This record gives sequence, structure tokens and C-alpha cells, in this order.
Amino acid sequence: MSEGPVIRVQDVHKAFGPQKVLQGLCFEVARGESLVIMGPSGSGKSVILKHLIGLLRPDSGSIEVAGREVPRLRPAGLAELRRDMGYLFQHAALINWLSVYDNVALPLRETTSKSESEIESKVYSVLELVRLLDARSKFPGEISGGMQKRVGLARALVTDPEIILYDEPEAGLDPEMSASVSRMMVKLRHELGMTSVTVTHSWPCAEAVGDRVAFFEHGKLVIDAAPAEVLASDNPRVQEFFAVPK
Ligand SMILES: Nc1ncnc2c1ncn2[C@@H]1O[C@H](COP(=O)(O)OP(=O)(O)O)[C@@H](O)[C@H]1O
Ligand SMILES: [Mg+2]
Repeated sequence: MSEGPVIRVQDVHKAFGPQKVLQGLCFEVARGESLVIMGPSGSGKSVILKHLIGLLRPDSGSIEVAGREVPRLRPAGLAELRRDMGYLFQHAALINWLSVYDNVALPLRETTSKSESEIESKVYSVLELVRLLDARSKFPGEISGGMQKRVGLARALVTDPEIILYDEPEAGLDPEMSASVSRMMVKLRHELGMTSVTVTHSWPCAEAVGDRVAFFEHGKLVIDAAPAEVLASDNPRVQEFFAVPK
């Protein structure tokens, strides 16, 4: 693998009809690094993550992930990308008619040719990690929102991705569970050396998991720096935004 950044986003523009959501977005993430993106609701943070994993295509600009130009990938390339990159959706996005076990097994069934027993041992190990092994036979409608979120996390991790995207991992969780998810994110990073991009509204989460925190507004990053530097920024807009969640 090349020594350059694992993720490189250059001058990306994206509009939905007249609405310009990304307007010259640029950032890079090095291997093993954790970037946190914060910004107002509805500004386009989930849209950024969806571009990284190829669910949305930019109107212009370049998105390189682990040496691949994502917008140019064909279905086979996209499947490979999604094996290397886990994605925790903002809303857990579980399949209601599949059990917890089968929801977590799905990415392995879709992107690998592992045997059922290999799948089982991997699914058990990630369910144990998020403390949900006992809930494996339940259906999404039978478990709490916080548990659904952890199933989403287990599903994002089951392929041993090198990169993980977290979209508001703390949303819908009580403070205790939210702190435990943050600790899990830090642990994954330190133990497995994962590279990550996290969108969050929680400063405690940002500070716990981020090497860098970026403030995203009006289609681009306004600041992208170490957490302490962001808090010390003299940009009035950054001061205003970060004064509240601190
Ligand atoms: N597939 C889509 N088609 C049209 N508009 C979209 C689509 N995805 C997102 N948007 C719009 O882009 C804007 C940013 O959305 P989003 O990235 O979800 O915001 P947030 O920063 O809260 O995650 C919103 O106005 C949303 O309605
Ligand atoms: Mg969002």
C-alpha cells in the first residue's frame, strides 16, 4: 500500500438540485489517524461520509480511499471497498426481518466467501465486543435504540475493516452508553490501528476519539486542527459553534 494518506478528498463539489451541499471540500486522513467532523445539522456531514463509501458521487473533485478513486469504482470495486471500510450509519439501518445475528453476518455473506462456521465465530466475536451476544436471536424491533446502534457498530466491524466511518455514534444513546461507545472507538483504534472519520455532535466524543477536529460549514472545512487548537481558535464562527457543546 502507498505511503500517502489513506483518504484524500480534493475540491469536491456536490449539489442536490439547486442546493449546494459540498463546495470545494478538501481533507486528508493518514493511516491510523482519527478525524472528527463537526458542524450544524443538515449541513452535509452524512453526505461527506456517503461520498467516501461510494453511496453518493461527487459532481466534481477527487475522492481517493486506500489508493482507489471511489467515484470511478464499478460494482465489484465498490464491494471490495466496503469490505475494507466499515460504516456505522447515523440511524442504525438494520434490516427488520433479520435477527441481530443475521444483520451482523450480512456483510460477510455479501462480500466474502467465508464458510458458515467462520462467519459464526467472527459474528460471535464482534457481538461479544459490543456486549450483545445474548441478544443475537432477537429482531431489531425487540431491542432498544442503543442496542440497535451497537448492532450497527458490530456490523461495521465484522469484516475487519482498515477504515471505519462513524456517523453520530453517540446519537440516541444515554451518556453512559455514549461514553462506552467512545471508549470502544478509542480501543479499536489503539488495538487494531484503524483509520477513522467520525461525525459527531458530542464534544466529549470528539475530544476522546479525534486526533484532529474539523468544523464543516457551507460546503467545506473551516478549521481542521487538534482539539485543543480548535477550542483556542479565534475564528468567531468556530468560537460560537464550539462554545455550546464544550
Ligand atoms: N440523496 C439526497 N438527495 C437529495 N438531498 C439530499 C440527499 N442526501 C442529503 N440531502 C440533503 O443534503 C443536506 C445535507 O444532509 P446531511 O448530510 O444528511 O446533513 P447532516 O450534516 O445533518 O448529516 C440536507 O439538506 C439533505 O436534505
Ligand atoms: Mg447526518
